[in-house]
Amino acid sequence: MDNVASMALVGLPWIASHPYAYPALEVLHITGIALLVGSLLVLEFRVWGVAAELPLRPLARLSLAITLSGFALIVASGLLMFAAHPAEMLANRAFLIKMGLVQLAGLNAAWFHGRDSLALCDRTARVQTAVSSGIWLAAIICGRWIGYL
Ligand code: HEM
Repeated sequence: MDNVASMALVGLPWIASHPYAYPALEVLHITGIALLVGSLLVLEFRVWGVAAELPLRPLARLSLAITLSGFALIVASGLLMFAAHPAEMLANRAFLIKMGLVQLAGLNAAWFHGRDSLALCDRTARVQTAVSSGIWLAAIICGRWIGYL
């Protein structure tokens, strides 16, 4: 068991030492963030009543497909960057806070869709969208700070 744990903590160090691998993963990570945050903001503005002439459900289907593709890109690139130096990341407060924020964003999204806030478009739905934007912004700030701690 100790062997497996120590191997897991060693991870894939070649990713960090490879001249292009880590920067390429950071580019994919940032591209995923742009897709996720950009598509979410379009839907969140619509929930606040901006461009009310746009039909909500078809818009939500399109923007959420882009959001989920962005999140998949973030997770894939993030896990590979994590695997480059797992012990260092697990000791990094900004990284741990960011992982907590990602889970909080997931809970907020589950509550949003669980109560069908898209159909209600009420005050709670607007508060949920504002909280969502705040959490993702905080995750971006923590992500950037990882390299400074
Ligand atoms: C499972 C999810 C995620 C994992 C495993 C992960 C992992 C990582 C790792 C290991 C780094 C590199 C840190 C460094 O070496 O400096 C990083 C950077 C970063 N992450 Fe994530 N991340 C995840 C999700 C997110 C999300 C959801 C966001 C924001 C919405 C985010 C924003 C950032 C930012 C802004 C950076 C700095 C990128 C750069 O400066 O090149 N991450 N992430």
